Amino acid sequence: MCGIVGYIGTKQAAPIILDGLSKLEYRGYDSAGMAIYDGEKINIQKSVGRLKVLEELTHAGATMPGFAGIGHTRWATHGIPNDVNSHPHFNAQATISVVHNGIIENYIALKNKLIKKGYQFVSDTDTEVVAQLLDYYYKGNPMEAITKVLHRVEGSYALGIMFAEYPDQLFAVRKDSPLVVGKSEDGCFIASDVPAILKYTRTVYYAENQEVIQLFADRLQFYTVDEEPIEKEPVTIEWDAEAAEKAGYEHFMLKEMYEQPKTVTDTLMPRLKNNDIVIDELQMRDEELAAVKKIHIVACGSAYHAGVTGKYVLEGIARIPVEVDLASEFRYRNPILEEGAMVIVISQSGETADTLAALRESKARGFKVLGIVNVVGSSIAREADSIMYTWAGPEIAVATTKAYSAQLIALYLLAMKFAKVRKTVSEEEFNALIFDLKRLPEQIELLLSNKEKIQKFANRYIGAKDIFFIGRGIDYAISLEGSLKLKEISYIHSEAYAAGELKHGTISLIEEGTLVTAVSTQPDLYQKSISNMVEVKARGAFILAVTNVGNTEIEKAADYVVYIPQTNQYFANSLAIIPLQLFGYYVAVGKGCDVDKPRNLAKSVTVE
Ligand code: G6P
Repeated sequence: MCGIVGYIGTKQAAPIILDGLSKLEYRGYDSAGMAIYDGEKINIQKSVGRLKVLEELTHAGATMPGFAGIGHTRWATHGIPNDVNSHPHFNAQATISVVHNGIIENYIALKNKLIKKGYQFVSDTDTEVVAQLLDYYYKGNPMEAITKVLHRVEGSYALGIMFAEYPDQLFAVRKDSPLVVGKSEDGCFIASDVPAILKYTRTVYYAENQEVIQLFADRLQFYTVDEEPIEKEPVTIEWDAEAAEKAGYEHFMLKEMYEQPKTVTDTLMPRLKNNDIVIDELQMRDEELAAVKKIHIVACGSAYHAGVTGKYVLEGIARIPVEVDLASEFRYRNPILEEGAMVIVISQSGETADTLAALRESKARGFKVLGIVNVVGSSIAREADSIMYTWAGPEIAVATTKAYSAQLIALYLLAMKFAKVRKTVSEEEFNALIFDLKRLPEQIELLLSNKEKIQKFANRYIGAKDIFFIGRGIDYAISLEGSLKLKEISYIHSEAYAAGELKHGTISLIEEGTLVTAVSTQPDLYQKSISNMVEVKARGAFILAVTNVGNTEIEKAADYVVYIPQTNQYFANSLAIIPLQLFGYYVAVGKGCDVDKPRNLAKSVTVE
């Protein structure tokens, strides 16, 4: 999830682009670059590191004079963060330059074809393919080259493009990645998000999929992919600059919760091919997968909670024994890793000290480690033997939501892959699982759209002293994460219990009116859950239940019910967690807490 900015007009482009990129740094922060046309040629400067490095390198843009340019902040996906992989990318003569946000899915096939035609590549990125492909198709007409490229590339993209032979123009195009186009008296702009250009103009146009935009200093024109001109009405932005950075959401956490349907799609879809699961990154043949005797999952915080769900799913679907450990425990408990064991570490940041230490410990003992990681090029991503990325994009709020959801998807995919090679599910069951997986994004969307109901309920609990979460099996794993979300941002004491365990001590804390959230998504455990609800209700608890649509029997025991759509029981976590995230969020908002930056917590914990 990178950020792009482009400008063409009567002012110096570089300072405007740097300023715009600074507003997009939340989208990417591992490298930055700019291409500016200086009157004769395109100059390119790029560097690994935060935007500050590029600012220093170019003396705040002063060393790159010119009235047209494109810029980029990178959040690495293909290729580690380094100078060469940074954008802009360009053709051999540096006469065509490109910045890109998104993923070109068929870049390997395109790259191989271009190599056969004599093209040489310098970076590991998917984006360089676009620059070289434009070069291949460019015969003097930029629009023609761009539309030909659009017919060849698959995936998602927002592209800013410059041609040295057309210095009075910039080009842009998008598909499934955001792109706004702006116009002011001083020029025209492109950007991944409104805040980047808000200082210069409030008049913007939203580009639709596969529309091509031609920008001049004093005008702009939209075209279809078939080069037909399109008329578009501008929109006037009313938000203030701070609200705009969060795309209108009050907090990054809320924005990130709303990004979950996309995160799930992005993590899932590239690994679903012809109704099968293809996880090339595993670098393991089917026979090797079938030979795995035991899986150890190691992680911290929410990633650990995703791992607990992973245990139930892997054991349930693939019938493979799984042990889940907190990384801080695993590293010092002299764990027994036997032949045939596989270690999976899960981490959003890829930098968590204990998780990294657990990875090193496992490798030192001669075991291969698979990393499920969000941040490309992070320490865990570099040191793991194989890496499965969760394509959640940068997560800013300390309390994780979308990265956790993506981790669940990665684990479901692994479980199904193992199940397939171990033949523990029939073809029919496998297809049904795929069907349910694909429906998750829209079901999450539906749950998010009911946020007012949760908000109203949450407002009743902003004064709560203790809130408990109970559930059995996967519902216990969901409860762990629901409870953590609530306590970390609202500072209300909360605990999650395996539903059958509460009565062994903690039930003494239940008082008249204490809220107990009961998660009940596993049909074979419905009756057991109801019994546990009745137990706490008899001690005065008020019960909020989260269950599957259709399980109306729960209303006999629960005081308030939130229903989630039907899915396979192994995927219920992805849906049931949504109301619980919203609940924690709205309790914290109601209490006036600093939701995105809760006290005492850090997003990335690099100390043990
Ligand atoms: C911190 C964060 C949590 C996160 C945990 C593990 O405690 O606040 O949100 O779950 O670290 O982080 P990781 O980056 O390894 O997933």
